[in-house]
Amino acid sequence: MAVLPIRIFGDPVLRQQARGVSRVGGVHRRLAANMTETMRVAPGVGLAGPQVGVLERIFTWEVDGEHGTVINPVIVARSEAVIEDEEGCLSLPGLAYPVERAAEVKIEGLDELGRPVALEGEGLLARVFQHEIDHLDGVLFVDRLPEPLRREAMGRLTDLSLGLASPGPGVPAEETL
Ligand code: NI
Repeated sequence: MAVLPIRIFGDPVLRQQARGVSRVGGVHRRLAANMTETMRVAPGVGLAGPQVGVLERIFTWEVDGEHGTVINPVIVARSEAVIEDEEGCLSLPGLAYPVERAAEVKIEGLDELGRPVALEGEGLLARVFQHEIDHLDGVLFVDRLPEPLRREAMGRLTDLSLGLASPGPGVPAEETL
């Protein structure tokens, strides 16, 4: 297994649409193992393909001692109830803002062996699923913030990427998706 470099805000790969995986193969098993290792070392609770420069629809997650990989994930149901909670991202280091997400979601996809998987998540796990699937569409959590919070976050990200600001206090691993 290998720890992969994580792409940081400003890298155009984070804004691209990832493509569906047409055939799950050995490369995906190795990628899933490397992404899981990278996520743990970071540390965070979710990691999506584009964050390691892979424009394929794949993400890994680890919450409450359970973990997995989902390929070609689709949200098939979401609760009307929403929860607002602090959220950070491995690609946006030092930044955390409250983000509103569906409280529960059901997703379907394939695991790293190409077997169908159906997962239900609530709370943090639901948040991870929604955050990682956003990554596959080039969407970052700051895009989900209401104005003027979004504008503030984008300004801070620009300052950080230009070296005009130093990252704030670390964001807890369980809020880093
Ligand atoms: Ni993220």
